[in-house]
Amino acid sequence: MSDLMSKPITIWLTGATSGIGYALAEGLLKRGHHLIATGRREQPLQELSKLAPGRCTAAIGDTTVNEDLATIRTVLEQHQPVQMAILNAGTCEYLDVANYSSEVIEKNIVTNVIGTSKSVEAVLPSLRAARNKGLPARLVIVSSSAWWFPFGRAEGYGASKAALTYFAHSLRADLAAEGIEVTVVSPGFVKTPLTDQNDFDMPFLITADDATNRILKGLEKGQHEIHFPKRFTWTLKMLGALPQGLIDRMAAAMTRKNSEKQEDSK
Ligand SMILES: NC(=O)c1ccc[n+]([C@@H]2O[C@H](COP(=O)([O-])OP(=O)(O)OC[C@H]3O[C@@H](n4cnc5c(N)ncnc54)[C@H](OP(=O)(O)O)[C@@H]3O)[C@@H](O)[C@H]2O)c1
Repeated sequence: MSDLMSKPITIWLTGATSGIGYALAEGLLKRGHHLIATGRREQPLQELSKLAPGRCTAAIGDTTVNEDLATIRTVLEQHQPVQMAILNAGTCEYLDVANYSSEVIEKNIVTNVIGTSKSVEAVLPSLRAARNKGLPARLVIVSSSAWWFPFGRAEGYGASKAALTYFAHSLRADLAAEGIEVTVVSPGFVKTPLTDQNDFDMPFLITADDATNRILKGLEKGQHEIHFPKRFTWTLKMLGALPQGLIDRMAAAMTRKNSEKQEDSK
């Protein structure tokens, strides 16, 4: 186990009200950590607080709104040392190319890239304060493996997660000198309210509890890249190594097949 998680620490988790974030919150609280849990909905945050009285603080807010983040930043500063931030809040909006709308692209980018970058701004002073006390500190960014292959309708989501991963890797280079580590989490399909909207086959779909176990195992080992399930992510990596022309033909065929399936099911 890495030094950082060998004993209870204080962690800021965004997107804690649902899906992977809620399961992660439960897992972290079970392991004795202190949580500052963020989301826009109050009710699930209250439920989490009841699971571990005194160890879970609700910090309600929208991670795309500066005023909300200013309030959350104050909460973070009141709970120092904060040694880890798991920036997991995200959305997935699909494009219907027949009714092309740049709003779909914008929504994905605003929540997944801008919201996460604003969250970094809110938590960086706290992580730096921890480092100044000689404590280890880690920033964890929940991206996705979806952008490793050009899936149809995922223009906005894939672009946002590609940008987010680059953002995280670049930040890793810049923060290395300060000893703040950066981990990127790239899940495959996980059953959550976000993927419950999907009307296509999701290969190797796993539960949010399974995703939580894999993320926590990786974080406890101090890994910088966590991706799962491996059967899915290694397949995507291998497909990504093919010539672009071949990738394009496979992507178009897959998209056509999914559209036909949807038409048939109408
Ligand atoms: N499920 C998958 O298959 C999968 C695969 C790869 C990556 N991911 C990534 O994993 C993360 C969690 O996804 P999930 O599947 O667990 O989705 P989910 O169940 O829909 O949860 C999304 C979370 O993000 C929060 N959120 C969204 N917009 C927000 C905003 N503007 N401000 C604050 N919080 C916001 C939501 O909270 P409120 O609604 O309460 O604000 C909710 O807690 C996302 O970043 C997603 O892209 C998921």
